[in-house]
Amino acid sequence: MGNLTNRQIVLGITGGIAAYKAAELVRRLGDRGATVHVVMTKAAQQFITPLTLQALSGNPVHTDLLDPAAEAAMGHIELARWADLVLVAPASADFMARLAHGHADDLLTTLCLATSAPIALAPAMNQGMWRDASTQANAALLRSRSIALWGPAEGEQACGDIGPGRMLEAEQLAQHAANSFASRILDGKRVLITAGPTREAIDPVRYISNHSSGKMGFALAQAAADAGAHVTVIAGPVALKTPERIERIDIDSAQQMFDAVLERVDACDIFIAAAAVADYRPAAVADDKIKKQHAAMTLELVRNPDIVASVAQRKPKPFTVGFAAETTQVAEYARDKLERKNLDLIVANDVSQPGIGFNSDDNAVLALWSDGEMHIDARSKTQIARELIELIARQTHLQIA
Ligand code: C5P
Repeated sequence: MGNLTNRQIVLGITGGIAAYKAAELVRRLGDRGATVHVVMTKAAQQFITPLTLQALSGNPVHTDLLDPAAEAAMGHIELARWADLVLVAPASADFMARLAHGHADDLLTTLCLATSAPIALAPAMNQGMWRDASTQANAALLRSRSIALWGPAEGEQACGDIGPGRMLEAEQLAQHAANSFASRILDGKRVLITAGPTREAIDPVRYISNHSSGKMGFALAQAAADAGAHVTVIAGPVALKTPERIERIDIDSAQQMFDAVLERVDACDIFIAAAAVADYRPAAVADDKIKKQHAAMTLELVRNPDIVASVAQRKPKPFTVGFAAETTQVAEYARDKLERKNLDLIVANDVSQPGIGFNSDDNAVLALWSDGEMHIDARSKTQIARELIELIARQTHLQIA
């Protein structure tokens, strides 16, 4: 039996005769260790009472989008963030249509739009409704947006028809839920990521920094969390929202980033150094604002610790990934850095190319490891991050094997 221990599942129930099977599903998910919060549409409540589901799940049932009492306990956005998986069973034809077209006219559709957790639907409807071209088009649209459809099965229906449209049995759905977690390529892995620039203080009002936006590091954090990892980001000053289900630690200087990494590195399986760490810092930070007394001034700079190289020296070390921003001889310099810093993987990008890299939404990279390489052509940092996480997952499994 697949394991759902510590998994947080929002079970959405929409209006259909198969809603009665949702009661059994709550039990089956709970048996496997999941915590379940049930969300019901108005129509669902015509078929089964919230009280039944509350008793079975052990949690209050959520029914209204605009219920102040419910919002005070656990608001719809909080619920969307809480979920590791949103499973809608049964999913009616009407619900599929509303979801496919981005409606947010009740709690369940709103939650589906708001969540970054995977969504799975267990369609249940009359065979004619399932076969209808509109439903089929909606199903295709939902699949194209990575929403999983589990079922429907074929067989005898409540209305007497025979054909496709029966909801899968509770046990089958619980198994699908367990499989969906098991197939997350970094399931249960702990990933530590540095992101953004660092700021090296000169005096109380001035600092040395760089143009890093942190977008690549944050995209990697999101992709790693989507792949099932527990992710901590150590972020320099960036104007980015924290991706959902990610722990974020804000720091300013390279030294603070170094300290924050060392505190956590022993508890991580994978370390990704995506930050643009300042190589040097002023030798001394003036206590007061420096006055412009002279025509020229000299700042003495000292080297900052190399965070990724320090991590890669540890024994045992996590699977360590570095970045290399280069303007010439990208592959050569990157391979040199891979070896010199004892990294397991390096991701190189040519920062001289306009439109990609620093402070941009797009990137194109060359990933290198001891006996291989992979080009990822120009595309969004989100897509690059997903491909890099897949590569990292493959490489870590190879290393462990
Ligand atoms: O040597 P270079 O700065 O080009 O190396 C870049 C890689 O090293 C990046 O992964 C960056 O996050 C990491 N780095 C670091 N600490 C530093 C400098 C760079 O972790 N002080």
